[in-house]
Amino acid sequence: MRLIVSFFLLLLASTNISAQSIEGTSETFSNNEPVTNTEIAIIPEPVSVIKQTGHFILPANITIQAGRSAELKQTVAFLQERLTTATGHYVTTISTPSPTATFKLILNEKTDASIGAEGYQLSVGLKQVTIRANKPAGLFYGVQTLLQLLPKEIESKELVKGIKWTMPCVEITDFPRLGWRGLMFDVARHFFTKQEVKQYIDAMVRYKYNILHLHLADDEGWRIEIKGLPKLTEVGAWRVNRTGTFGDFIPPKPEEPRNYGGFYTQEDIKELIQYAKERFVNIMPEIDVPGHSLAAIAAYPELSCTPDAVNYKVRSGEKIMDWSRGAPPLGIVDNTLCPANEKVYVFLDTVFSQIAKLFPFEYIHVGGDEVARNFWEKNDQVAALMKREGLKTIPEVQAYFEKRVEQIITAKGKKFMAWDEVLEGGVSQSAAVMSWRDMKHGTEAAKAGHEVVMSPTQFAYLDYMQADVITEPKVYASLRLSKSYEFDPVPEGVNPIYIKGGQANLWTEQVYNIRQAEYMTWPRGFAIAESVWSPKEKKNWPNFFARTEQHFKRLDIAETKYAPSVYDPIFAVKRSADRQLAVSLSTEVEGLDMYYSFDNSFPDHFYPKYTTPLVPPIDAKVLKVITYRGKTPVGRMMNMPIEELEKRAGKK
Ligand code: ACM
Repeated sequence: MRLIVSFFLLLLASTNISAQSIEGTSETFSNNEPVTNTEIAIIPEPVSVIKQTGHFILPANITIQAGRSAELKQTVAFLQERLTTATGHYVTTISTPSPTATFKLILNEKTDASIGAEGYQLSVGLKQVTIRANKPAGLFYGVQTLLQLLPKEIESKELVKGIKWTMPCVEITDFPRLGWRGLMFDVARHFFTKQEVKQYIDAMVRYKYNILHLHLADDEGWRIEIKGLPKLTEVGAWRVNRTGTFGDFIPPKPEEPRNYGGFYTQEDIKELIQYAKERFVNIMPEIDVPGHSLAAIAAYPELSCTPDAVNYKVRSGEKIMDWSRGAPPLGIVDNTLCPANEKVYVFLDTVFSQIAKLFPFEYIHVGGDEVARNFWEKNDQVAALMKREGLKTIPEVQAYFEKRVEQIITAKGKKFMAWDEVLEGGVSQSAAVMSWRDMKHGTEAAKAGHEVVMSPTQFAYLDYMQADVITEPKVYASLRLSKSYEFDPVPEGVNPIYIKGGQANLWTEQVYNIRQAEYMTWPRGFAIAESVWSPKEKKNWPNFFARTEQHFKRLDIAETKYAPSVYDPIFAVKRSADRQLAVSLSTEVEGLDMYYSFDNSFPDHFYPKYTTPLVPPIDAKVLKVITYRGKTPVGRMMNMPIEELEKRAGKK
């Protein structure tokens, strides 16, 4: 593990103790009121913010004072770069204490137990800014907060003239609620370049995320070089390029070129790990087995129990699973590694040996989700394995597989983590569980003494649509920002020491490029960041949304894409007693007006304002709606076909 922390600090970082005592001192600025303070709009909300009078003015010549520790070097360089780029001010760094330094980054000589390993104290005075922390990570997070106190133009990638570079004087004490603050990025379904992964890291560190979970292998691609297994990347990393609605594509023809994809060499991986480390992010690798393994099987068909696997190809978005019966799915092709084949364990040993050497993070994620086990039910090798090992059911066969994999992982000195399905057949006590299907599975796992990371679909699935399907790229479920903000990773009645933290997951079947990856991540990534960092009692939706709007402006300047879906109206439709449609409109946030038309023209704030449920005129084809704040449009033009409303209302 990168940070060696004392047991006490670890305990402090993973629980919520002492939030209350510090909270008690925060009287002058509390977010329990829905304020729209545009000067102090920090995400995630700090533990305590005490506003002072006056402003700090950034001088033309800035001095950053910080110790010589190698771990501070990057934080200093980070601050220096951000200040120089946007302001053009002259920035020097010094390592010896100076009373006139502009920014002082100080590592506490004596540990301040109240802020733990990642906390910090930030003091913005009239002439000087001081950040104190126990560990370098805390100074880095203090710098993130500091940047959020400066005008939004500090996010610019080029010089901005004519800005008054000031910050409100303030005293901030801050530390995270939870130690695991993750984002998962699926680089298997669509490949994202090393540079794009760095861009993703740049965005996540602004919001104090500290884990990047890279989903490196799935049916659609194998993304990491493994020495001695060249076909994984020669064959497994490439598929046919298709666009549209992923999952329903016409099966590729044999002559179609398989030239879409890519992979990271081991040198690339080292570079990414170093880049992340300098920003206090750990990268957790995931190789998803035994299901989701078609790319590996296309490369090495002998890993499958199914003889026809010699004809299998990396999936290009065509249908390979039947979900009509629910989960687990039925495989149309067998995308599972064969649990009864010793060659599979030799293969996994090679893969995980190299992965364990490359990634310093203590956990390796091995998947375990959505295993289509129908091919196992009819397989002689699996039947022989069941007999030999006394396995009574097919879930027990998966449990056998997981135990073998855990032995491999622990033999490499790493901890085993998997999706919550691995609980079904029984898994060893030391297995860590990532709960995705529900909070329920994570709750049960924690009660059984497993370490748990909560990443439930209901709150934390960033691939889900953020508003109505008529405007969002179609996915099978929706998750609005306000719902994400309700995420509480620590369920009632569970000993919090078992909840390592929370995570949001970006699956990329429908995400074709990095701009869309950003669109899907932000602003829901703000909501999850606040859910894992800020004290639970400080969470407040109106206040959060006011800050979110300030951060939209920051992301505009940083050229990071985000979704404006939160402004889109919500449609609800019913039939009245006479079978007429009645269309209700609402918004996720307060203070917006909705204007509409049924005559195919584009409504603005001179059009009828929505007040009561609407009955579409007899020949109307479309209901167009747009949201405004005062005289300013904030939402997108929604074009809702009346036919769609009829469908949603059910039978006439
Ligand atoms: C998952 O979403 N299948 C972990």
